[in-house]
Amino acid sequence: MAPPRLIGPFTQALTLRGLPALGALSDDLLEVINNAGVLISNGRIQRVDEWSVLRTELKGSGIEEVRVETLFEAKGLSCPPYLTLTPGLVDAHTHICYAGSRARDYADRLNGVSYEEIAARGGGIRDTMRHTRAASEEELFMINLQRLSDHRRRGVTTVEIKSGYGLSVGDELKQLRAIKRLGESGMSRVIPTCLAAHVLPPEYRSSKGDQHQDYLAEITQSLLPRLRAESLAARVDAFVEPSAFPVEIARDYLQQAKNLGFDLTVHADQFSRGGAKLAGELGALSADHLEASTEEDLLALKRGGVTAIALPGASLGLGIGYTPARRALDLGLSLAIASDWNPGSAPMGHLLLQASLLGAAEKLSAAEVWAGITMRAARALGLTDVGTLQPDHSADMIVFPTSDYREILYQQGMLNPCLTFVQGSPQLTYVEGSVC
Ligand code: NIG
Ligand code: FE
Repeated sequence: MAPPRLIGPFTQALTLRGLPALGALSDDLLEVINNAGVLISNGRIQRVDEWSVLRTELKGSGIEEVRVETLFEAKGLSCPPYLTLTPGLVDAHTHICYAGSRARDYADRLNGVSYEEIAARGGGIRDTMRHTRAASEEELFMINLQRLSDHRRRGVTTVEIKSGYGLSVGDELKQLRAIKRLGESGMSRVIPTCLAAHVLPPEYRSSKGDQHQDYLAEITQSLLPRLRAESLAARVDAFVEPSAFPVEIARDYLQQAKNLGFDLTVHADQFSRGGAKLAGELGALSADHLEASTEEDLLALKRGGVTAIALPGASLGLGIGYTPARRALDLGLSLAIASDWNPGSAPMGHLLLQASLLGAAEKLSAAEVWAGITMRAARALGLTDVGTLQPDHSADMIVFPTSDYREILYQQGMLNPCLTFVQGSPQLTYVEGSVC
């Protein structure tokens, strides 16, 4: 049991608490505490309030007071003059467990070849599959620890990670075991998802035709039960698209996964419609992408209580339009924003930068963008103890070297945290000259 500590003072704390889960949000709903402190105990937040109030109340209690500047001084660094505290960012959709690079695909796309054409000729996801199959569990773990660390430096403290580049029972298990170990590393909180239904692996394609059902039957019978037995994943995803898994085939698979007790999430309406309606019908936790969705599709999500997840990194990577995020919020949906960090469509992986750009393009308020990368993203993952600064939540917090939280989106990803906490454990990420 770590003893309680009072940490501060912070010029501002943006708590994100008390916001509605659904619909449009105006900035006056944001709680900003000036000159704030946070009391943490055993890796969890006990209180967030004004520094002076907490100090007065806790005087004589014996609780250790940690002034933020001492964390910097202990490393020989001078503390930035202003500090703004926010919840750690939640990235609800990534594919970072991969080996290899797809720089060649990217160059082809710049020359006008489409993502789907590259996939059809054996590149794309199947190319990453070959590299990922060739890597050991240990290699995948090491590569991904670095990606998780890069993500944390940019403020992300909760990361969903999908499999989906193994595409066989054994290789999907290898990926998910590496992902489980990443979660145990303490770098970040990790939420694993099985995406064995990403594309059809080459073994199930033949001149006689594609055997989607046979592949998914194998996954349902031989992989899903082992995920539960080894606690490797409680969530199942499918890429619903004619070029990956068509709606009718995906429906049966996802329904069976649901019957086995898995939460569902769907890669929906990235290039063509159908996936969002299916996600609404099945009551998935989230439907992600939605670049091709119409109002009818968004309303199907609303009826099913499904969170819409926009993936601006994929729009930027593929050079296609953004998810209709403004429309989704105005229709009363919950909107999360995630990076989709993957080697193909979204190689950048900078969530804050991408969310800032989506906000500018779609006219989202600061409250809507912040909710999308914190509390609404947590909700999309079914998490109830991250995404806001409030009592009983995990002390996953980030600190920016600025006096005004509005600078953070304004600087469009160029202002990064100088300090992050995961379960109360601090890590300095200070870069000289990034203060404003
Ligand atoms: O979300 N669209 C399907 N899956 C990923 C891309 C994966 C890849 O290209 O390697 C996505 O964009
Ligand atoms: Fe994705």
